[in-house]
Amino acid sequence: MTAEPISAPAAPAPASRALTPRSLLAGDLMLRPLAQGDEPAVAEALRDPGILRWAAGRAVTEAPEGERARRWLEPRLAGWAAGNAWFAVTQAEQGVLLGALSVREVNRLPDQAVVTYWVAPSARGRGIAAKALDAAARWAFAGAADGGLGLHRITLDHALLNTASCAVAARAGFGTEGTMRDYYVDTTGLRHDSHLHARLATDGPAPVG
Ligand SMILES: CC(C)(COP(=O)(O)OP(=O)(O)OC[C@H]1O[C@@H](n2cnc3c(N)ncnc32)[C@H](O)[C@@H]1OP(=O)(O)O)[C@@H](O)C(=O)NCCC(=O)NCCS
Repeated sequence: MTAEPISAPAAPAPASRALTPRSLLAGDLMLRPLAQGDEPAVAEALRDPGILRWAAGRAVTEAPEGERARRWLEPRLAGWAAGNAWFAVTQAEQGVLLGALSVREVNRLPDQAVVTYWVAPSARGRGIAAKALDAAARWAFAGAADGGLGLHRITLDHALLNTASCAVAARAGFGTEGTMRDYYVDTTGLRHDSHLHARLATDGPAPVG
């Protein structure tokens, strides 16, 4: 997983990087912008050691348990304005947060972005992350006339130990491009070799699609 910011988010991005919040349908799933009301579900998810180790970021893991959800949510609610699209992944008709997904750093490198994701333990085993990731990638690749971001290349990374995330990436059409040595530092300070995966706008449909 791409290293999360260690402290508060960086200074606001130029207005040109701001993204318009929107929702995406992915079969029976709905990706919608995170909301303040997601805090209890986020707090529950942040009890999971896997999310804390691979996806929460140090600003969260170093906070007292009772403050972690707020520390996680606050900068992400402001994310769209800074070029980071943060979605709650929900069951379409219910709206309760099952997981979270970001399309971050949009156009930090021209026509590129980075994706990150987690799924709450109670919602795992149903392929939710791959479905959500595929929908987010298709939106990010779509042209502006179709409501998309018009990107060309989207990347993700995961520690080699995180084989579930590797399977998610492959199912969502993100091929492995190589291994980045000692790339990810986990919450205990351990360094992990990580896979870099990428999907291009010109790639064919994902296996999950
Ligand atoms: C990675 C994660 C998002 C996957 O959740 P999910 O969408 O419910 O995934 P599923 O349980 O449906 O499994 C997806 C794939 O991973 C495989 N998988 C699941 N758990 C696994 C495990 N412990 N070891 C190896 N493979 C595993 C499944 O077999 C499936 O493979 P397939 O698509 O080839 O059939 C979830 O485990 C998670 O949130 N983990 C903690 C946070 C995290 O690691 N985020 C990503 C950081 S890079």
